[in-house]
Order: sequence, then C-alpha cells, then structure tokens
Amino acid sequence: KADSPVVVVANRLPVDQVTEPDGSTRWQRSPGGLVTALEPFVAGRGGAWVGWSGSAGEAPEPFESGGVSLVPVPLSEEEVDQYYEGMSNASLWPLYHDVVEKPEYHRTWWDAYVQVNKRFVERAAEVAAEGAIVWVHDYQLQLVPAMLRQRRPDLTIGFFLHIPFPPYELFTQLPWRSAIVEGLLGADLVGFQLPAAAANFVQLARRLHDLPARGSTIEYDGRTVTARAFPISIDVKAFEELASRPDVVKRAEEIRAELGNPQKIILGVDRLDYTKGIAVRLNALQELLEDGAVEAPDTVMVQVATPSRERVEHYVHMRETIEQQVGHINGVFGTLGGPAVHYINQSVPREELAALYRAADVMLVTPYRDGMNLVAKEYVAARSDLGGTLVLSEFAGAAAELKQAFLVNPHDIAGVKNQLVRALRIEPADAAKRMRAMRRHLARNDLDHWASSFFDALQAKA
Ligand code: UDP
Ligand code: G6P
Repeated sequence: KADSPVVVVANRLPVDQVTEPDGSTRWQRSPGGLVTALEPFVAGRGGAWVGWSGSAGEAPEPFESGGVSLVPVPLSEEEVDQYYEGMSNASLWPLYHDVVEKPEYHRTWWDAYVQVNKRFVERAAEVAAEGAIVWVHDYQLQLVPAMLRQRRPDLTIGFFLHIPFPPYELFTQLPWRSAIVEGLLGADLVGFQLPAAAANFVQLARRLHDLPARGSTIEYDGRTVTARAFPISIDVKAFEELASRPDVVKRAEEIRAELGNPQKIILGVDRLDYTKGIAVRLNALQELLEDGAVEAPDTVMVQVATPSRERVEHYVHMRETIEQQVGHINGVFGTLGGPAVHYINQSVPREELAALYRAADVMLVTPYRDGMNLVAKEYVAARSDLGGTLVLSEFAGAAAELKQAFLVNPHDIAGVKNQLVRALRIEPADAAKRMRAMRRHLARNDLDHWASSFFDALQAKA
C-alpha cells in the first residue's frame, strides 16, 4: 500500500531468513554496519524498509517488525550469483576499496545489477506515499535514485554510500561508470562517509560528465544535487548501557577466566573480509612471538571473524589463508589447552561482543580500507571504565575522528608491531586519557546526529 511517508531501501533487510536443518525457517539479525546504524533510526520513525531477505527464491509477504514495515524483494539463485556475489561483491566492493583485490567485470553481472535495481525501484514505488522521503543505501543500489525519480517524480530521494568512494583514476576502470554516476545523480542528496569521497564524486561529475559542479553541488538536469560527507556512527548511549549491564560485566570477567586469566587480551572483530586486514594482525602477532617481545599464553588474541559472502572466490581464499596462519601460530606458540589465538568463525550476538570489548586490553582494527568501521566506535563506547586501548588503521574512516587511538599503516608491518607493543605496555593513566578524549568525541557524534543531519539536509530539499 502506498502509504509510507519514509522509506528506507537497502540490499538487506535488518533481519535475514535462515533455514534450519529440519527445513523450518526463522529470522535473525543481518550482519554488518549498515544494519547496526539504520535499525535504531527506522525503529524510531516507523515507515517501510525495502530489502532482500538473504536467501534466494520467492520473497516472504511484507510484515511488521518493531513498528517498521519490512518489504522483502525476491532474488533468484542466478541473481544472487550475478547481482549480489558478482557485480556487488566481486566488482564494486573491491573497486571501491582501493582494489585491495582485483575486481572482475562481466556484462552478465551488470545486466543482473540493472534488473535487480529496477525491482527494488518497483517495490519502493509501491509503498512510498505521495511526496514521501526515500532513503536509498549503499553500493548494491546505485541505479535506484535515477530510476525511482523517473517512476515517481513526486518523491524526495536521498542516497548514502556506506563504503569508500574511489578517486577518478580508479573509478573510471568501471565499464559502466557513466550509468552509475547518472544513477546517483537521480538523488537530491548524496551522502558519503568522508569529505574526500564526496569530492571524488563531484570531480567525476565534472570531468566525466562535464557538469557544472562547485564545492558540494552539481547542476544536473535542471536540479541541484548536493554531495556531502555525513560520517556514520553508532547509538553510543545504548551501546554504553549494554556494555555496563551487570551481566555483561560479569561475562567479561568470565571470558578472561575462560582464556586462562592472561595478562593481556588482544581482540579483533570483523566480518571475514579481505579489506579488514586480519592477516596483518596475525603477522604482527606472529613476529612479536618470534622476537620474544610477547609471550603466549600471557598474551592471547581473540579474533572474531564472522562468516561473510562465503561463495565469492576472494573470500574462500582468504579464509583458507587465515585459518592456516592461526593453525601455524597455535602449533608453534600454543600450549596444551592454551592457544595463542582464539579464532571464532561464527556470528557473535551483541551482548557477547560487548563483553568481549570490556574484556579486551587492546582492540586491533587494521583494515586496508574501510568506509567507517563501527567496531572501533563500539569498542570506545563500551569502555565507560576508561580501560583498554585502540589500535586503528589510518585507512578506516573512523581514524578521522578517533585521533587518540594508536594509528597504524597496515601495509607497514614494523609500524603495526611497534604500535601494538606500545598499546600493550601503555600506562593506565595514558590509556584512560586517550579513551576519555575519544568518548567525548563520540558522545557528540552519535547515530542520532548522523541520521538527523542527513535527514534534515534531505528534507530541506523537499
Ligand atoms: N557484528 C556483530 N556480530 C559479529 C560481528 C560483527 O553483530 O559477529 C556487528 C558489529 O558489532 C558492528 C557491525 O557488525 O556493528 C560491523 O560493522 P563495521 O562498520 O565494523 O563493518 P562492516 O561489517 O559493515 O564492514
Ligand atoms: C557492509 C556493507 C553493507 C552490507 C554489510 C554486510 O557493511 O556496507 O551494505 O550489508 O557489509 O555484507 P552483506 O554482503 O552480508 O550484506
């Protein structure tokens, strides 16, 4: 029914439909930062969320969940293969992340991308009320703004890209570069994580399309499109409350005991993705163990590596490499019942993550490139006790804000080792000072600030 004043359109719904071994199905929270950020925003405003259920085949009927109307979009097996795993995650994902892995370009994948973007447009057009605000998200749906504008000129359309946006020199590899830029220009407001990404987009409009563009505005088709940075954040208060709950604090103590009461716990939490630089951390730890600068099991590492995009080739390879390396480190440096690296290849619920953050002395976040990285922000939000130290890659969007972290270049292994040792040996007063400063920044720049600044800027265009 066309009655939603606010419509969110994202490739994934906030919940995934999973099929149990006995054939029954249930819903569980979807992985990733996009859902973490958008869920509380939508829950507070009502409206509709158009997205995919995470499994191929017929889509379930629309249903209500937490005051939001969830509108599933169906994808066939072939579309999952070509639109999701192919074009989205083997072409665009690596291209937009500095070609950390080599992107592949296939015309069949592109055709599927166009077809699926159209389907999202149809569903969004069906549920959006007259004059509604539609907020489209991320790299899987970059054609939606222009297609939707054509179908429903009455709508105000915003787009937010959760991942980095590459410079002209890289973006122009894409055989369908013009179509993507035109797709995004269908929006009234295009949001990015960082000012440099917004500037890349404005430059593309100027150089590739010869459009009049200045500062953060582009003149296109008789309209003014705004392209600006809106650094995303988390619900800081909610996360802090979760991490301070007595049962979570108790669980953090239990975790420490279960790990054999080590002196230092190093933690990594990521989707198992090649952009996250998980191998960098393992290399640094391995060398420090070899040098004798750290010893197991006095110092242990916990790496949560949540399964992600498991049928995409790059992900299959990286998983093999990482699991081999974990096996090697434990084989050489572990003891009976005392591994040096605890590797968890499962999705971990938020309560348990919060307890892990509370237990960790050093949080290692070392992506080669990351739009923002909410894990880094969650760690800071969790540490109301002012304990713990963050080691953070310069190439995560979060580094522009969390300046008191120990920043590292993940390509410089010697530098990562140095910073890790500094973080392990830091004086508690210094750690607390850094944590306090980062927490002060986060408190002012939380999810609500992000969502309302984007939304207000978008409404101003209505
Ligand atoms: N997350 C989770 N369970 C896990 C691993 C991650 O709930 O097992 C959450 C994590 O708390 C964070 C999000 O997934 O909110 C990851 O967001 P981030 O921006 O760090 O990375 P992304 O996965 O979006 O690339
Ligand atoms: C990142 C992307 C999201 C995506 C999430 C999980 O956060 O920006 O668009 O939903 O990763 O990836 P997946 O492929 O499982 O949806």
